[in-house]
Order: sequence, then C-alpha cells, then structure tokens
Amino acid sequence: MHRKHPVPMTTPEIPAAALPPGLPDPALLARLAGELFSSWPGAATVPATGGVPLPERPHPAGLTLPPGSFGPSTPAAVPGGLPPGANLLPSSPQSAANIVASAPARRPHALAGNGVPDVLLSAAPAYDGRLGSHLLAVPQAPVAAAPFHFAEAEALGFPAAEAAPAATPAAGPAFEALRALPWQLPTAGAVPRLDATPTPPAAPTAASPRFYFVPEAAPAAAAAGRPAFADAHPPFDVHAVRRDFPLLAERINGHRIVWLDNAATTQKPQAVIDRLAHFYAHENSNIHRAAHALAARATDAYEQARETVRRFIGAASTEEIVFVRGATEAINLVAAAWGCRHVGAGDEIVVSHLEHHANIVPWKRLADERGAKLRVIPVDDSGQVRLDEYQRLLSERTKIIAVTQVSNALGTVVPVAEIVAIARRAGIRTLVDGAQSVSHLKVDVRALDTDFFVFSGHKVFGPTGIGVLYGRRELLEDLPPWQGGGNMIADVTFERIEYQPPPARFEAGTGNIADAVGLGAALEYVERIGIANIAQYEHGLLEYASGRMAEVPGLRPIGTARDKASVLSFVLAGYSTDEIGQALNREGIAVRTGHHCAQPILRRFGLEATVRPSLAFYNTCEEVDQLVAVLHRLASARPVAGRRG
Ligand code: ALA
Repeated sequence: MHRKHPVPMTTPEIPAAALPPGLPDPALLARLAGELFSSWPGAATVPATGGVPLPERPHPAGLTLPPGSFGPSTPAAVPGGLPPGANLLPSSPQSAANIVASAPARRPHALAGNGVPDVLLSAAPAYDGRLGSHLLAVPQAPVAAAPFHFAEAEALGFPAAEAAPAATPAAGPAFEALRALPWQLPTAGAVPRLDATPTPPAAPTAASPRFYFVPEAAPAAAAAGRPAFADAHPPFDVHAVRRDFPLLAERINGHRIVWLDNAATTQKPQAVIDRLAHFYAHENSNIHRAAHALAARATDAYEQARETVRRFIGAASTEEIVFVRGATEAINLVAAAWGCRHVGAGDEIVVSHLEHHANIVPWKRLADERGAKLRVIPVDDSGQVRLDEYQRLLSERTKIIAVTQVSNALGTVVPVAEIVAIARRAGIRTLVDGAQSVSHLKVDVRALDTDFFVFSGHKVFGPTGIGVLYGRRELLEDLPPWQGGGNMIADVTFERIEYQPPPARFEAGTGNIADAVGLGAALEYVERIGIANIAQYEHGLLEYASGRMAEVPGLRPIGTARDKASVLSFVLAGYSTDEIGQALNREGIAVRTGHHCAQPILRRFGLEATVRPSLAFYNTCEEVDQLVAVLHRLASARPVAGRRG
C-alpha cells in the first residue's frame, strides 16, 4: 500500500496506448468515486480536486497496536505526505488502465434481488481494497486477540496497548437503509452453528434422486420446474456474496467472467486478500523463535489459523493439524511416514477407481518400493463406488484404505462414512481425501472416525501452497518425521536428534506462514456464511445446471451418481473437449478440459478427456444459462446425425 512517489490528486498520467478505446477516462472515474464516497457515513469533506476523502480503515478488533501508534486506523496504510484521498487514486499507469478496463463491469448491469444495482456495492471494494470492509456482504472477522505463544507487549515489558474497539458497523442513514434490506446475511448469531447436528436428509424414494445434504425441494418451486431456492427465502443472497470476490468483476474477452473452474481452484474473498495484506504489513516474521514482538504476532496468527482449521473439521486438538503445501503433500507425507512403518511385502493398499492422481501415485510408489499391492474399488456406471466389491477386496493383508470424499472428475459424493466404518471394524487404517469436499459439505473428522484427512487451502477460498493433514493424535505421535530441518527438532547434536511432538515434527523448515493465516481467514469466511447454507444453495444450483445441460443435443454427462457435488463433467458429440473449452473462454466462461489428473476414472468411461464446469456458492443460475447457451450454439453448429437429445 505504500506509494514510492506522490500521486497527483487529479488524473494520473496514463499513456493513451494503454487505454482500450471508447472507455471512460480516469478523471471521470475519480470524479464518480469522489461522488460515491462523499455520501460515505462520516465523510467530512470531499476535496474539490476530485479526489476522495480518506476512509478510516479500522484495525481488526482485538489487534494489539504497537506502542506509539495513533489509534484504531492503520497509519502504515496511508502513503506518507500525501493529501487525504490521494492514496485511493491509481498508483501506476498499469493499475489505472486496469481500473478503466474493468469499468464496464461496474456499470449497473443488473439489479440485485432487492433492487439495488450491483455497481453501487461492487465498485468500491474493487476500486481499492481498503474500502471494502464496510461494504462486504459477509462482514470480516476480527483478527484473533488471544496470543498463544507470547503476551506480546506485556511480555516485552511494555504497557498493554489499548485494545482496538470492536469493528463498529458503519453508521448513518445510508447504512441503516442497507442494513434493513432483506437480502442481508444473518447476523453471526443467526448463522447456523457448524457443530450443530445437521437435519437428516429426507429418505430417498425410487422416483426422486436423493441428495445427501438438503431437505426436499420446496413444493411450489418443484411444481414450477425451478430450483427450490428460487422460491425459498434464500439463506444468503448470492449477488451480495459475489461482491466479496473482486475477481468475479473481472472481464475476459469483453465478458464478465463466469468462473466455473472451482474444482481446480476457488476465487478468494476480500477477507482473505485483506488478511494476507495485513499479515505482511503488520505481522510478518518467522515463527516459534526470536524474542521480538513480530515473532509473537506471526506465531499467534499462525497458531490461531491452526485452531480455526481444527474447529472447521471438528478435530479434537490442534496437535492433530499439520500444515502442508496441499492435499498432495499431505498424502505423500502419510505414504512416506506411515507407509514406511506399516506397509511391507505382500501387504495391500486399497484406493477407489475415482481417485485423483495425488491419491494414486504416492501409494503406487510405496507399493512398488515395498513389494506391496494396490487394489482398486470399482465404480458402477453412474460413477459411484461399489460398496459390495469394496468389502470383498478387504483381507488381513489390507493396511490402509485411501479414498476421496468427492470425485474431482465426476463430482460423485463417496459414502466415506460407510467405507471408514467397515475399515475400522476390520482394524484397517483410513485416509480420506477432502480436497473436493470441504468447500461443499460439512466435514467432521471425529464423526467420520477417519485416521487421516487431507485438504488444500486453495480449493476452499484460501491461498495456494497451503493445505492440511489431519491425523489422529496417537497415530501422529507414533510416526517418524518425513523431512528433517529446523522447527521440527527439540535437540540436535552430531550424535543424536530429538524431535518435537506433532504437529511441529512434520513442519520442517520455515513453512507458508502467511498463507496458513490466509487459510484461517478463508475458513472463518465460510463459517460466517454457514456450510449448511452453502450446501443447500449449491445443491439447487447443481440440480438446475444438470437439468439445463441435459437439454443440449449430443451432450453426454460423465458421472451421474445420485449423490454429487459441484462437478458437471461432459462431452459433446462432434467436438473435442479443447474446442469447447476455447469456445467457452471466448465468452468469458472458464472451465477445465482434459483428464483432470484422474485418468483411470475417465478411461473407465472410455474417455481421455471431458469438459468440466464446477460450481461454487458464488455461481448463479444466470451463469449456468450463459454456459448452456454457448453449448446449444455449438451443438446446432455441428449437428450430428442420430445424436440423442
Ligand atoms: N485437482 C485439481 C483439479 O481437479 C487441480 O482440477
């Protein structure tokens, strides 16, 4: 946020060539921004120059301020020596050009359900992130106050800094009016608790597909052929929530982006982006060492994130939560550390046919090294695992069962609770790959009773390069380290090494501290919406999308299990998957095409590749309609004789 050079209050210099033709100039944008923020509650003055008043950016509540700081705002965020408001202007020609290029996305393009144009609320956070906190659909969480390792200022002999006030809601008539609108999210207390016992789904009937996470569709909506959530009072307003994700305002090939590649990675809410920036601006240090205040802050932030992960997946203790690079690294860790102790010649490792390569390759390598065998649970023609065959595969040589909870290629929701229960009765260890499940359905590792559970942060709205291994405490305590270095030792001599207990034993070297903190912010964001709300909304959207796509002539869905989440894999007669991906990209629609790192399951269906749209809670029926419209156009451009549909 620091600017190296003063920025003029008037239009910044932008090379004409950098600006797309026909777009409004930055001076106009700056003036409009000035007008917008002049109505900001508490905005005292608007500089006549066309700049905007400096909004207060409160520290997250509970953050201990360094001695000598000035109050609840963040002085470091204000560029030194600039007049108020200057910091909101673009700092470089490139960023100014970006603002101009994305201006069309900020025009009133649609009214939200309550009649408020999206542009009113999306313009500000995208214009400058520091404005976002008052406008976000899901209010940002305060930075946790409880230090884990140091008492920060007190420990260093300073008087405790005055606690920052809790984030006060914006005041003023405009915000009162906004707050009164019906689409607002429930307050924190009203959001269903994640540890509440979920309402059991209605029993399936032969005629209606069973969905694992939602009550039956609302009768009125079902009768009208619309998704249930179209009639029901929405648990959250998707148009409001979308404003928390700056990237969703991006334009690709002249179209507002339609991000349907959520199984590959998810977009990040402003809360996560801000948390990362806050970490690097105010907390950055190595952790678990050093005597200084920043080491304390960074350690506290990192360990607080571990606690958030623990709560999110229902683990018993933070000692069971190991930070790793992602699900892939977590599985490799278990295969290396647990496998080297427990898998020998003639032993068997069971995976399912649905697995991502990350849950095949480490086990195959282990099996090859040890003279063990990989055995595979087959799937039926819908893409669901065969529990009968699974039970037949087990023997006294089976050492571990490693299965995904949701298939990344087909979207199948695997009955992992049954799989784990059967394995446990036989005394076999289990690992559940939650990479594709944690963002869509409630995970409770204790209820699941699995030995290991893994997931990646970037698929649950957190940063890339951070993920989690959950391991039952007594198992982790029994495991040797898998990598050696700093942070994981208790004592080192040239003769002998003593290791730390878990989780540090498995976190050698300086880890991805900031992104662990960002992951904590992402999980808190999901908690504030409520995973039950997310699951219910996504279920309706998936049902809607499946129905609309089934109308496209020549479209073959791949993966039709009754229990599915997010993924809508398909092939279209007359087209390669690449052609479809490119045609969609021309319309700003992002999907993945190819083998999705899950070649065995695609080959089970006679394919080397599919097109794979994948949904998240910020996707909408309108986006599905856009996707389906392109598919209809493609299908009619190359009619294939005898195609079904
Ligand atoms: N595992 C990610 C996917 O399915 C990369 O696309």
